[in-house]
Amino acid sequence: MNFKNDFADILFQALDGQLEKNKLLLMIEKPKFENMGDMAFPCFELAKTLRRPPHNIAAELASKIQYPLFEKVESVNGYVNVFLNKQKVSSIVIKKVLSDKNHYGDLNIGNDQVITIDFSSPNIAKPFSMGHLRSTVIGNALALISEKCGYRSIRINHLGDWGTQFGKLIVAYKKWGREEDVKQQPIKELLKLYVKFHDESEKDSQLVDDARLWFKKLEDGDEEATKLWVWFREESLKEFSRIYELMGIQFDSYQGEAFYNDKMDRVVQILGEMNLLEESEGAQIVPLDELPPCLIKKSDGTTLYATRDLAAAIYRQETYQFIQSLYVVGNEQTLHFKQLFAVLEKMGYKWQQGMKHVPFGMMLKDGKKMSTRKGKVVLLEEVLNDAISLALKEIEKKNPKLTSKEKVACQVGTGAVIFHDLKNYRQNDIEFSLKEMLKFEGETGPYVQYTYARASSLLRKGKFVESNQVVQIQDVEAWSIVTTLTSFPNIIKRAIEEYDPSQIAKYVIELAREFNKYYASVRIIDDNVLKQDRLSLVYAVTIVLKEGLRLLGLQAPEEM
Ligand code: ARG
Repeated sequence: MNFKNDFADILFQALDGQLEKNKLLLMIEKPKFENMGDMAFPCFELAKTLRRPPHNIAAELASKIQYPLFEKVESVNGYVNVFLNKQKVSSIVIKKVLSDKNHYGDLNIGNDQVITIDFSSPNIAKPFSMGHLRSTVIGNALALISEKCGYRSIRINHLGDWGTQFGKLIVAYKKWGREEDVKQQPIKELLKLYVKFHDESEKDSQLVDDARLWFKKLEDGDEEATKLWVWFREESLKEFSRIYELMGIQFDSYQGEAFYNDKMDRVVQILGEMNLLEESEGAQIVPLDELPPCLIKKSDGTTLYATRDLAAAIYRQETYQFIQSLYVVGNEQTLHFKQLFAVLEKMGYKWQQGMKHVPFGMMLKDGKKMSTRKGKVVLLEEVLNDAISLALKEIEKKNPKLTSKEKVACQVGTGAVIFHDLKNYRQNDIEFSLKEMLKFEGETGPYVQYTYARASSLLRKGKFVESNQVVQIQDVEAWSIVTTLTSFPNIIKRAIEEYDPSQIAKYVIELAREFNKYYASVRIIDDNVLKQDRLSLVYAVTIVLKEGLRLLGLQAPEEM
């Protein structure tokens, strides 16, 4: 069901193979105005090679083309314009969506091969930042989109659960901490201890030495240090899990940085054997051709973030045999990933070509970077809960009789936050505004969800029953919905090729708009003869809206 493809096939034959089909596909345009048809083929390039006037070629082609789904083919100013038979095409498209249901738009390009997606990856004992929120939302959508394309996705939360800060935390906890407080609000409490450590260590440098000692103990597997570390990690993870649960996100692995502690020696050994390591001021580095060298070991022998990522990449390839390996991490780590990939390339790993940094911009508030300021932290859980209570207020206004208000408010509130992020191309910085994202009009998650609910209620009111009969749509207003439905598979393809969920977000907004226009101009369930056919179209819209939302990580409430 790809009419552009059909047109290219027909042109290929009409031109006796003078132009390749792929080339033809690229040349076919969408006319600017509706009265110029649904597709157009420009003949100017051909005119040059054939040394004939373009209108001449267009006229000849137009006369040769005959196809049941084309209602009219004309030649105008050097273009071949094709008009699709709206009724026939509508029936085909609606039938296809209704029979494929949520599998409509599935692309079988992945062949069950694995894509690992490293996303979210917050740091233990620190607040979940806005950057981590972006990574979480984008990474989750990419996982869902790759599955739609036939890949097997492995969701990896590469927790920042190792580093010198744990030495500081242990010292601070032993000095000032209380078990109960950490249990109640782990992140807030651990952060408090961390901040206190920094304030106090300015006055008392002994603390810094103690912290170093405790981190060393931790690295050496000391029992007390390990026990505290495990506990901090668990408590933090409990808190993060609440956020993931609110957003309906799951991971296949929580193997963070610490997991690679015993896997780095091997990497360093291989690097040494391959003569890739050099010494520089006591540290071990891998010099790179066009990049700053990658630091592998500090002069005191400790390993680094990059060393862990090297070990992680090799582990992931050995464990999952990935065909692609994505890292959904902010722009500011671009150099780190370039170095990582370059070192792996030097090590001769061919699979390194499947690795890709998927960067994103910053979250801004009033034009400034949203940071975890000292003392005052923006806690993501609070943001989500605010969004949910705002959604609840709105729903109470709109639909006081709704029974499952809380559940719907949760779907709408979190959905609003997710959608607000994903409707923007990921590389752009985005402005954070709860009020904006929760609007029921405009380009928001709630708008699309609301449209879905409205369409669903129409199906209930109109007592829609699915049948195998041919659907006949005569409303001219329906045509733009039909063409939008047609392009869904193509949107999925673009989204996966460009690792860009915003393609889908923009698409569902467009489809929702088209539907709302139709809803405003056609009395869908008033005419008994046309009702079931029209509702088939509505049903097709609900299927695609719901699937589009799902791919972004949003739920579609039936009522709201
Ligand atoms: N924990 C890191 C941070 O917050 C992100 C980790 C990203 N993943 C990775 N494999 N390096 O900056």
